[in-house]
Amino acid sequence: MELKFDRLTKQFSNKISVDRMSVTLNTGVYGLLGANGAGKTTLMRMICGVLNPTSGEILLDGCSIETLGENYRKLIGYLPQDFGYYPDFTAKEFMYYVAALKGINKQTAKSKTKELLELVGLLDVANKKIRTFSGGMKQRLGIAQAVLNDPKILVLDEPTAGLDPKERIRFRNLISDFSKDKIVILSTHIVSDVDYIADTILMMKDGQIIINSPSEGVTNEIEKKVWKCVVSKNEVDMISTKYRVVNLQHDSNNNVVLRIVSDIKPNENAINVEPTLEDLFLYHFDDMVSQ
Ligand SMILES: Nc1ncnc2c1ncn2[C@@H]1O[C@H](COP(=O)(O)OP(=O)(O)OP(=O)(O)O)[C@@H](O)[C@H]1O
Ligand SMILES: [Mg+2]
Repeated sequence: MELKFDRLTKQFSNKISVDRMSVTLNTGVYGLLGANGAGKTTLMRMICGVLNPTSGEILLDGCSIETLGENYRKLIGYLPQDFGYYPDFTAKEFMYYVAALKGINKQTAKSKTKELLELVGLLDVANKKIRTFSGGMKQRLGIAQAVLNDPKILVLDEPTAGLDPKERIRFRNLISDFSKDKIVILSTHIVSDVDYIADTILMMKDGQIIINSPSEGVTNEIEKKVWKCVVSKNEVDMISTKYRVVNLQHDSNNNVVLRIVSDIKPNENAINVEPTLEDLFLYHFDDMVSQ
């Protein structure tokens, strides 16, 4: 399976949210990272066919998704960023409701609902109203409804928003279960969420993909650019204005340990340390300081 964006563009009045994007996705889990307003949601809405491109197109195995129409939409599972829940529905009612919208017959809806609610750990609260659910429970219900139709392409817009660390781990395991032979695209600005589960990292900035790399080795480009150094308290301000300080820790000797992302060695005693995905993200997105 191949999903191809060909010079995909979306313009809203005077704002170009997705800008001539050409990328090809194959089966696997893609982590879409980007700062607020980078264009992630706009891209995902176009992938799901709820928003039409201004120009360019999306092709599934060489066919325009516009031509494929309903045959394409059948393959999609979508968890929107601003997913609306019906507080007075029970989890089960809500699943049946979504199944009806997706044209799934009653028998299948019933068995699928049971299977999925069990999988996301909500079977014992299937008859409880959604208004009584925690944020994490609602997100899990959101994921369950997105996969009701056994989608080949699963699009999850900020699926981990509002989840606590334990729920995050649970979510990662869920995605691994679902992702076999599928294209899964999930957006987030929480870097650690995709660090573990994504096969490929896509980094989006100003409507364009600036990084498209296998997760392994994605930090290679900043290999010798992450530094650790110990400075005295009164040096911190000066260094912070000059360099991109990504972490700051006070040590027991009244000194400060800085983690810095910089092309050049920031001070004499700085040593190179192993880069993380978070360092890479900040390297590209933290425009607060200039170098
Ligand atoms: N319907 C719309 N009308 C006008 N502008 C829009 C519309 N939808 C999005 N935009 C603009 O497009 C840009 C990209 O928005 P988008 O929601 O795709 O970003 P995002 O990466 O999902 O951000 P976030 O991380 O905050 O969810 C923003 O500047 C936004 O204001
Ligand atoms: Mg968004």
